[in-house]
Amino acid sequence: MNFKVKKGKGVRGEITIPGDKSISHRSIMCSSLAEGKSKIYGFLEGEDCLATKLAFQDMGINFETNNDEIVVHGSGLYGLKEPKKEINLGNSGTSIRLLSGILSAQKFSSTLIGDESLSSRPMNRIIEPLSLMGANIKSQNSGRPPLEIGKSDMLNSINYDLPIASAQVKSSILFASLYSEGKTIVREKQTTRNHTEIMFKQFGVPLSIQDTDDGKNIEMLSPSRLKSTEIDIPGDFSSAAFFILAALIIPNSNLTIKNVGMNETRIALLNAFQEMGAEIDIINKTREFEPRADLKVKFSKLKGINLDTKLVPNLIDELPAFFVAAAMSSGSTAVRDAEELRHKESDRLEAMGDVLKSLGVDFNMYQDGMDINGFDNNNTFSSYTGGKIESFGDHRIAMSSAIACSLFDQESLVLNTDNVNTSFPTFLTIADQVGLNISLEESS
Ligand code: S3P
Repeated sequence: MNFKVKKGKGVRGEITIPGDKSISHRSIMCSSLAEGKSKIYGFLEGEDCLATKLAFQDMGINFETNNDEIVVHGSGLYGLKEPKKEINLGNSGTSIRLLSGILSAQKFSSTLIGDESLSSRPMNRIIEPLSLMGANIKSQNSGRPPLEIGKSDMLNSINYDLPIASAQVKSSILFASLYSEGKTIVREKQTTRNHTEIMFKQFGVPLSIQDTDDGKNIEMLSPSRLKSTEIDIPGDFSSAAFFILAALIIPNSNLTIKNVGMNETRIALLNAFQEMGAEIDIINKTREFEPRADLKVKFSKLKGINLDTKLVPNLIDELPAFFVAAAMSSGSTAVRDAEELRHKESDRLEAMGDVLKSLGVDFNMYQDGMDINGFDNNNTFSSYTGGKIESFGDHRIAMSSAIACSLFDQESLVLNTDNVNTSFPTFLTIADQVGLNISLEESS
């Protein structure tokens, strides 16, 4: 499928964004491993999270869905059944990396596969620490999926310094350490999203977090059991980001986004946008389980910034949207220390370079980032144009491009957008609700 994008009016009204993807994955994993009946509200029915759910169904977990509620009949840590076939995790990096931690400790072997994009993503980052814990895990494709995971008796605990800022690696180790003997310590220099830690506490797993001189230590005493509970998932900040972007850059916008996840490890984009001059009010904050709030966003005249590199891990998924905002700002914006973007669903630096080039934006590419030269103070972005834009099958590139193209008189085509369904299946419905003009076109 492709997106056909016509010029949009200012985005206005009140919207609610579907559930957080990272939290949805973890809610299925933890409630499947818990003892007894857990309830999940606000689960994201996107393809990635459904792949996680199906994987647990294939391992004998029973889910009952009633409207917005999923009842999960957990099997306890040792109750999963051997899957009858390979587990297909589609496009989902979070599924394969976190599940590898769980499957490394099972009394059965398993094989994890994915689509073309997932099959080209690096897995040594989890194979290394899991092997140190005693896992028997092999890539059939030089460090990339398929992964073959052998059966195991008991894993060892480890002390592990995360070599890259990655919540998926941290979480893979924490899931494996549910089954290990003793104390596992994961040290992170840069804070990454902490949804696993928050959810483990919610399921009664003893876990402590210490601030150190150069980061954080996450410590867990194992083996640990999970007690069933209820999980209420807030809206996904990373999906909200596309509508925050739309409201900021499309004149005459004034949008309220309700019940957005406000976990502090996820919302660095708000700091960056505010430094650029964005008018965003945060209201109705609540702190229970995962914090959440409503956001009121208005059209704003943005100016370029040097993005603080410390913010990068906490807005890594929002950088495609941020690059579009930088292009629509006066002055230039510099982003560095973002090489991890090259290892996402696509090489997001190359992909966004391609998008910006199609729009006529001036930029310089680096191995770990970009300088984007917005327009100078007297000009608007009138020299930019829409056109035909390749999204490389990457959901976040597709949605960022569709919002950018909503500014132009010329009709645009964003190609290869099927994977928007992995994270935001209702993107087009919500886009229509706020007054954007984005529709589906079958690709030839
Ligand atoms: C995620 C962690 C991040 C993020 C991804 C989801 C998670 O990946 O980009 O979309 O749910 O833990 P890394 O851990 O590779 O940084």
